[in-house]
Amino acid sequence: MPRRFSHLIGGQAVDSQTTFLSRNSSNLEDVIGEFPEATKGQVRQACEAARAAFGAWHSTPAPVRGEIIGSIGKAIEREKEALSRLVCREMGKTLKEARGDVQEAIDTCHFFQSEGRRLYGQTVPSEMQRKELMTYRRPLGVVGIITAGNFPIAVPSWKIIPALVTGNTIVWKPSEDCPASSYAFAKLIEEAGLPTGVLNVVFGAGRDAAGQYLIEMIDERDERGAKRIDKVAFTGSTAVGRQIGEVAGRNLLHPTLELGGKNPLVVMADADMENAVAGALWASFGTGGQRCTSAGNIILDAPIYEAFKARFLAAAEAIKIGDPLKHPDVLYGPFINERFYNTWAQHYEWGKADGATLLYGAGRITRDSLPRGFLGDPDAGFYGWPTIWDGVKPSMKIFQQEIFGPTINLVRVSGIDQAIETANSVDYGLSSAIYTNNREWAYQFKDRIQAGMTSINNSTTGAEAHMPFGGVKGSGNGTRESGIWVLESYTYWHGVNDDISGKLQLAQMDTGYIEPKGAFRVEEMIIEGA
Ligand code: UN1
Repeated sequence: MPRRFSHLIGGQAVDSQTTFLSRNSSNLEDVIGEFPEATKGQVRQACEAARAAFGAWHSTPAPVRGEIIGSIGKAIEREKEALSRLVCREMGKTLKEARGDVQEAIDTCHFFQSEGRRLYGQTVPSEMQRKELMTYRRPLGVVGIITAGNFPIAVPSWKIIPALVTGNTIVWKPSEDCPASSYAFAKLIEEAGLPTGVLNVVFGAGRDAAGQYLIEMIDERDERGAKRIDKVAFTGSTAVGRQIGEVAGRNLLHPTLELGGKNPLVVMADADMENAVAGALWASFGTGGQRCTSAGNIILDAPIYEAFKARFLAAAEAIKIGDPLKHPDVLYGPFINERFYNTWAQHYEWGKADGATLLYGAGRITRDSLPRGFLGDPDAGFYGWPTIWDGVKPSMKIFQQEIFGPTINLVRVSGIDQAIETANSVDYGLSSAIYTNNREWAYQFKDRIQAGMTSINNSTTGAEAHMPFGGVKGSGNGTRESGIWVLESYTYWHGVNDDISGKLQLAQMDTGYIEPKGAFRVEEMIIEGA
């Protein structure tokens, strides 16, 4: 019997009648746990618990909240190895990457622990005497958070940690794909001493389930007519992000939306070929392509197209794939689950219909269809062949659509201008990369690429925890996570006037402006001809 887990609502373990199972992605017979499917009533209850906890959490001094964030960081650090193994087992990423996923949350805690001692506002001079102006960052209230399964620790931490340090309370609906990792993360947060109801966790799927119910709460008012949710933060698909944005917009909420990507990786004719092949291989196939920062199109300068292709293909043929817990040296493991595999697999039809050439790859890895570097039992999970399409053009669907799996396209261009134009011809703009040692080309790319993040001579992935994370165009609505930039997403600015003059002073009208004393003319000062 698998262990049965509960929602965490208002400090209580709450159960649901309907449940779902979380499985080891690399061995589907290994059940990790049974999780409850939240009802709409339970999601509402979680919003009420978060609302009830808001006043006291808001009044807790920010440095004290920061110390709790520090304790969360220490708890995650203490459990790093066990938590990483759980992420590896549940999500299917390698242990090295799972450790990175967990480390990113630790880094986020380190950053925001001391933010509790900053959260700076400004003192601002007034137009009037005996009057003071100042600004404060105030928390928004109850934050609804919905996260994806591919980064079950790092990406939730980008939302939960800054939301907490700034004094908000939370209802978190983690991905149904990695509920055990999320549960463990929530318990480590709880352990640090958060007051009851500050973090509430409801489990379940998205559509017609917990995720959708949480979004429906944005439209609801409580018995006093007050909003149930004051802010929503989402990482997931662009299609769902648009729907959330509509609901948020009509309720005048500014949502955080971190959406899809189709990230270009450009290799110019002068690039260090070995470095470019290594970066492109990792960006394309690392995490089995299941990062929103994974490369989507490799844009190759014509003079090195064939040479790059040959080296890249040889490197792809040598990739080791398998159960990452059993075989620590694999580059990637299985899809998170069958749903991710099915979504990925359909792109083979698109590629054929587009007339692209399938250079390498053959769909699902099975006993009868094994790449050279496969280790273990392919039927124990859903594994995909590393897949390379050749001769891809911007007009093709495989060029435009996010594929979210171990698939990459090779695209031929001529020169930096066409490379940038091609890189910009998708309706996404999350990450991007260029390999070149030409300062002018690197500068041109950095200046003109439409993306929230750019690497020069490094992969499209690998954003650091204290840099702004987010995109432009279809990749989001302009909000940023991480570092100082995320503070804008979880606070509003409160401007305060403090008038101690004891009389009514009117701004703009009673301001004691001083009139200039006539006009001094330099020409009149100069004695001509002297
Ligand atoms: C994601 O795929 O949603 O930059 C996040 C990176 C990681 C985070 C990816 N630090 O690739």
